[in-house]
Amino acid sequence: MSEIKKRLSSILESPNHHTDDKLQKVCHLLDQEIPYFNWTGFYFKNGDKNELKLGPYVGAETDHTIIPFGKGICGQVAVSGETFVVPDVKAQDNYLSCSIETKAEIVVPIIKDGEIVGQIDIDSHSIDPFTSDDREMLEWLCEEIAKIL
Ligand code: SME
Repeated sequence: MSEIKKRLSSILESPNHHTDDKLQKVCHLLDQEIPYFNWTGFYFKNGDKNELKLGPYVGAETDHTIIPFGKGICGQVAVSGETFVVPDVKAQDNYLSCSIETKAEIVVPIIKDGEIVGQIDIDSHSIDPFTSDDREMLEWLCEEIAKIL
């Protein structure tokens, strides 16, 4: 297992923290360790509503604290349940801009018992920065997170 996965696992396994504290630590770790992760955060389904609500994050404050299903990259992932990698946000019509500095985005769903319950969202200030290793690590992370929800 890679060093970063080991450190993520130890955060998620820690018995003395609530889930939101763990997710906040996950954001901090990813933000610190991967230079082109420039906004790292979680969105979760808002109760029974067909919308996402902002959870723990690290990065600039965002206006998008609530995102209806289907809107933006996040809203599309809430419907598809599939990882969405956007190498260049300018090429997307259905996109919600958080910061003019954002050039690329990756959103990975968190699926628990077959239901899409949330997602991790990462914005980058670089064009096309995300590697297949990043995607694999984030998909692994979301599976590990689903286990503690
Ligand atoms: N860009 C996202 C909105 C969330 S912010 O990036 C934090 C989208 O299009 O869904």
